[in-house]
Amino acid sequence: MENSSEKKRNERWLISNYPMLSNELKAYTTPFIELMAYYRCAIMEVETKFRVLNEELSLEYDRNPIESIKTRLKSMESIADKLMRHDLAMTTENIENHIRDVAGVRVICGFPSDIYTLSEAFLRQDDITLIQCKDYMKNPKPNGYRSLHLIVEIPIFLHDKKKPMMVEVQFRTISMDWWASLEHKIRYKKDVVITEEISNELRECAEAAERLDAKMEQIQKKIGANETEIYI
Ligand code: GTP
Ligand code: MG
Repeated sequence: MENSSEKKRNERWLISNYPMLSNELKAYTTPFIELMAYYRCAIMEVETKFRVLNEELSLEYDRNPIESIKTRLKSMESIADKLMRHDLAMTTENIENHIRDVAGVRVICGFPSDIYTLSEAFLRQDDITLIQCKDYMKNPKPNGYRSLHLIVEIPIFLHDKKKPMMVEVQFRTISMDWWASLEHKIRYKKDVVITEEISNELRECAEAAERLDAKMEQIQKKIGANETEIYI
């Protein structure tokens, strides 16, 4: 138990040291806060590029290729967890050099072909550098997961410098997205063991979703062809 003179002494110590502690804390946290702001800027840049493409392509195709765009900034907690898993210290350098999905943009399209049209148009832009491409549409994961993942570098323009930032872009159709969302919920449900039977059923659902995507794409193409006939 603290007696009253100890309490006073502690209070005096805290008061006299608080500015120093708070400055140290500030010096430690400011670079992280800055870096996260830069990632938010990179997300804005990428999202704007897709909004522009959607606007322009909607004139050409008479429909919007993008259904929706979701963005997310990885939480500090998840960043720290990921660095720890890789045995790396929590520094801004390690975040920038080792974590490629701090900034995430998910583009949800109507049809599988929209994904290739959009991703190719995006990658042709001269300020985008492709770092990595994982095509889980051509090669789905063994569990059935489908999506197109890009890791790109994009510059953000600050008042005194240009800074390249890494962004993860995931492209999915609506059906790829609902499957992935539900599979994620099921997989991470507390106290649930995913048996081989459940895994097989989930994969069957993914395959059914893939067939539906292909069927809808065929219907869309037929409608597109009929429209041309009408105009001719
Ligand atoms: P991290 O998991 O982010 O460390 O990267 P990775 O090297 O495994 O990359 P990958 O491109 O395979 O996956 C990155 C992201 O895609 C994940 O964080 C999920 O958002 C999504 N993803 C990948 N596989 C699956 C899956 O099997 N199911 C679901 N629901 N999402 C997946
Ligand atoms: Mg990730």
